[in-house]
Amino acid sequence: MTAQDRLDQLFAYLRFASISTDRAYAGQVRDCANFLIGKFGSMGLLPELHETPGHPVVVARSRPREGRPTVLIYGHYDVQPVDPVDLWTSPPFEPVIRNGVIYARGATDNKGQNLAHILGVEQTLAEEGDLPVNVIFLIEGEEEIGSKHLAPFLTAHRDALACDVVAVSDTGMIGPGIPTLTYGLRGIACLEFIVRGPAFDLHSGIYGGGVANPAMVACQLVSGLRDAVSGKILVEGFCDRVRELQDWERSTWKRLPDGDEALLEQTGVPALFGEAGFDSYERRWARPTVEINGMGSGYQGEGSKTVIGKEAMVKISCRLVPDQDPEEILQQVADHLRKHCPPSVRLEVAPGHTGMHYLMDPFSTHGQAAQNALRSTFGSEPMLIREGGSIPIIRGFKDILGVDTLMLGLALPDCMAHAPDENFPVANFEAGLRLNRALLKELAK
Ligand code: BES
Ligand code: ZN
Repeated sequence: MTAQDRLDQLFAYLRFASISTDRAYAGQVRDCANFLIGKFGSMGLLPELHETPGHPVVVARSRPREGRPTVLIYGHYDVQPVDPVDLWTSPPFEPVIRNGVIYARGATDNKGQNLAHILGVEQTLAEEGDLPVNVIFLIEGEEEIGSKHLAPFLTAHRDALACDVVAVSDTGMIGPGIPTLTYGLRGIACLEFIVRGPAFDLHSGIYGGGVANPAMVACQLVSGLRDAVSGKILVEGFCDRVRELQDWERSTWKRLPDGDEALLEQTGVPALFGEAGFDSYERRWARPTVEINGMGSGYQGEGSKTVIGKEAMVKISCRLVPDQDPEEILQQVADHLRKHCPPSVRLEVAPGHTGMHYLMDPFSTHGQAAQNALRSTFGSEPMLIREGGSIPIIRGFKDILGVDTLMLGLALPDCMAHAPDENFPVANFEAGLRLNRALLKELAK
């Protein structure tokens, strides 16, 4: 298969608008799962489409051989919504290459990265007629909405999914060409709250000053979650279980490229913000945070409208670190909001999805194999990092299947995951194939 054939396949995969969060796209999510089924079948693997109460799970396995380790390669075929869609340079589901970089929703998160593994296996099978290990692909359609149905799926198929280790490319590289092994991820706890005030929208001149404004109250409640100067989270008990960095991590991270400088450059912010006493790596990878992901109230259109919206909505996610418990955190945040909510409005808090943090030992036998594969693929010493994002099922692999997950990221810091102009360099896609082949060889040793 030529490099152009591989790109054609990636483009076909990227054309599915497999947005898992929005019911309107359920058909495209399913079509995308069926595309994978066809792909796995054509490679000579044994594909299975499994229904769940949500989107389907795709499993495909090589013909198992006795005496070989089994590697489960995990990925997700669902993607995030595309809005604000007018900020895309080209339409999100019409992939294009500009300057050696593929632009499309899902290019980096996660279709480009998981297809690299699929095509790596296909290439090995085509050239060598066999694989060095038994392979099980598990590609799900609900990662971007918290993988709610995948943990029960693992439990129900524990024997069929038994493996020695899991490999995932759904994280980042610290910089272009720098091999990176991620050995930790943050957990997550999401919630949404609504502040309800008057029975209907009010004229803000006639009524303003006489009743509480739900949007103002929502802002006050949110600003009470974290100190604006010190960056400390003010929710009672929130940080009680935060574990300190290990000594080796502190010294290893010191040798990474300057994280503060890189962050300023990557994001374009005028100055950094975060918890006093911690650098950017620690703030993003090893400290918890609470963020607004969406909010709405009042008039959002052009020009002005003097109105007091009858309600205000805020979507919040907390990123969590060892040893915080997402359910406990949700309770603490909800209690905090209720405690500080004035009697002039009604507050409704709706807990959302959660996921546990993950931490593994990058110096374990499997960790060393991953490091070797990264070193031989990219030709330099791998960087060992944690990341701030979450992949909830990775903890499930440990708790349910009893195995560690090797996170060999291929995304670059400017890949614009979850944002307009998401992108993935062709070079990283191709490196992903080589990485897959090197990894399976290393894990066979
Ligand atoms: N690929 C990301 C996770 C990620 C990104 C890990 C960058 C490390 C570095 C994944 O697709 C993702 O976005 N996960 C969600 C999970 C959530 C919706 C439960 C996330 O982190 O927001
Ligand atoms: Zn994502």
